[in-house]
Amino acid sequence: MPKVTKAILPVAGLGTRFLPATKAIPKEMLPIIDKPLVEYAVEEAVLAGIKEIIFITSHTKRSIEDHFNRNYDLEEKLNQAGKKESLKKINREIFKDITFTYIKQKSQKGLGDAILQAKHLIKDELFAILLADDLILNNPSSIEQLINVSMENKCSVIGLSKVNHDDIKKYGVISSLEINADQNLFWLDDIVEKPRDNPPSDLAVFGRYVLSHNIFKYLENLDPGINGEIQLTDAIRLMLSDYPVAGYLYEGKKFDCGSKEGYVNAITYLAKDILDN
Ligand code: UTP
Repeated sequence: MPKVTKAILPVAGLGTRFLPATKAIPKEMLPIIDKPLVEYAVEEAVLAGIKEIIFITSHTKRSIEDHFNRNYDLEEKLNQAGKKESLKKINREIFKDITFTYIKQKSQKGLGDAILQAKHLIKDELFAILLADDLILNNPSSIEQLINVSMENKCSVIGLSKVNHDDIKKYGVISSLEINADQNLFWLDDIVEKPRDNPPSDLAVFGRYVLSHNIFKYLENLDPGINGEIQLTDAIRLMLSDYPVAGYLYEGKKFDCGSKEGYVNAITYLAKDILDN
């Protein structure tokens, strides 16, 4: 089975929960102390063996492209000043051989529509999806864990998190009768986006996926779902009738940085290291 070498990072959302900060700055460029959210996700993908990062972006998110391009002026100035550590931070060795591709999503029709924009770049292979606003700190990283599970089982795998009852309605929620609890693995029977009542479990989809290229068949013909958006969850639900999909409950610190609470918690958590030193 070919390795997972491509990751899609959808970053075209409006980020309305962070207005006015996100009027001119993409949500994904908000810093967690000194590094933007999107760089955490790219770093995670690259360290897990991803060679091609495909951003689904919009015309207001140019700064993400700028962030991953070289800034020769700044490099020159840092070089002249002998600031070697700063140079390493803006021109990271681990990103050197990575291909960055940018595709525009014309209008924000939802996460499913964002992923569909990359169809022509994905062949007969498994590929990763990382939502940069979900920051997950663990070792091995969440996407590495999902890639390993998907290669072992030769199927699509979605990252899961346990979420409390009051918050679960904000997420995609799975139901599973077949559980390998010792391996944190759940074979999906169903999945539902933002269940209003009676969530099927307390296991929510959390920011990372490894999907088979088959998902595009279901995305292409999908009607808008909840909130009038083309939902990736709805396509996964359809795919379930034809292909197995696993859910994997990963360990680690998880922060939903698309919400103010999660963002503040992430900064507070990482700030401890700085304040303690
Ligand atoms: P969210 O719903 O969390 O992001 O989408 P949002 O829409 O930007 O945030 P709010 O709710 O308005 O505050 C999850 C991910 O999917 C991307 C977002 O950028 C985010 O990474 N997304 C969402 C797209 O790329 N396109 C879309 O049409 C919708």
